[in-house]
Amino acid sequence: MSTDVKTAYLSRRVAVLKPSGIRKFFDIVATMQDVISLGIGEPDFTTPESILKAGIRSLEAGETHYTSNAGTLELRQALVDHLNRQYAVEYDPLTEMVITVGVSEALYLSMTALLNPGEEVIIPTPCFVAYQAEVILAGGVPVEVPTRAEDGFQLRPEALEAAITPRTKLILLGYPNNPTGAVATREALLEVARLAEKYDLLVVSDELYDQLVYGVPHVCFAALPGMWKRTILLGGFSKNYAMTGWRIGFAAAPADILRGLLRVHQYTIMSAPTMAQAAALEAIENGGPHVEQMRLEYNRRRKLIVAGLNELGLATVEPHGAFYAFPSIAATGMDEDTFAQKLLDEERVAVVPGTAFGPGGDGFVRCSYATAYEKIEEALNRMQRFMNRYG
Ligand SMILES: Cc1ncc(COP(=O)(O)O)c(C=O)c1O
Repeated sequence: MSTDVKTAYLSRRVAVLKPSGIRKFFDIVATMQDVISLGIGEPDFTTPESILKAGIRSLEAGETHYTSNAGTLELRQALVDHLNRQYAVEYDPLTEMVITVGVSEALYLSMTALLNPGEEVIIPTPCFVAYQAEVILAGGVPVEVPTRAEDGFQLRPEALEAAITPRTKLILLGYPNNPTGAVATREALLEVARLAEKYDLLVVSDELYDQLVYGVPHVCFAALPGMWKRTILLGGFSKNYAMTGWRIGFAAAPADILRGLLRVHQYTIMSAPTMAQAAALEAIENGGPHVEQMRLEYNRRRKLIVAGLNELGLATVEPHGAFYAFPSIAATGMDEDTFAQKLLDEERVAVVPGTAFGPGGDGFVRCSYATAYEKIEEALNRMQRFMNRYG
């Protein structure tokens, strides 16, 4: 263990965590002029006005107190109804749903409530940067299984099965995927379901981007035959409704499991922010048309960026969900860190090196299209100049 003065006091679990690879890079970006950032992992839209107003009304009505630990019953009920309408899954709002501080907290609750020291979690990568850290913080062991561009970044059931050991406790899925934009097919998820059944595993399914899909359906893992009882379904408001700063998400699971998550939540959080829960209620009840409007705009940008990157020789698998493209930079002969640094220095365009998202990300960069259409056009022009030199 490190004897460095700065880390000497830290627990081993925390000391081994690497700072997110992208933080230093984006600290530099923040000090530069005229940068077009395709590095951002959140909607560029402000929260729709009716939702904003619901939050403000809640504050003005003096709703400045804790809510029930699990969240307001109105919001839990509305979410349960929404999930039922959308995916035909059924949850009891009293015992099977907790409102969390984003999916971030829901991930923490799941891992802390479910893992014993040394138990393994299978994580398809590239993936959201917090997955491995959450497993380690809970004393578990992340087992990474890379997906590949040649498979469209789809899950590879045979690779997942090969990673299962007697210590495997759960599989952590994140689809629609950050950073690849892949949306898991029903066939692939049915294979995961078969493995869960065969090896008696739980599945934590992070479906934060479920409403941001383009021309393909999102399949809710809990809705697959036999999977409800094995699934901890995570979702939230950050991406679908452009509400990252409000910090509201949820976990839904069978009561026996949810009870454990709720216990951790009670002692660490108490309750999610009250005025944000009021805003989330408005979002779930009336926000559908806003989501559709934003989805259509993302789709327009998606087509622009995917066609543009491919034309530049940066081969890009078509992303069908979320708001990320994940081009290969093989044509430049550079590694992803060099590519990102040079592109920033020489053309003032920021992208995220693919390795920030785990194994399978080497040779790729993440380009977010949650930025204005015109900015994406300009970024592509700048990248054209770059590729003229290095392509
Ligand atoms: C796949 C995925 N899960 C979870 C999160 C965290 O989201 P939240 O704002 O709900 O905590 C993110 C944020 O980028 C994400 O991309």
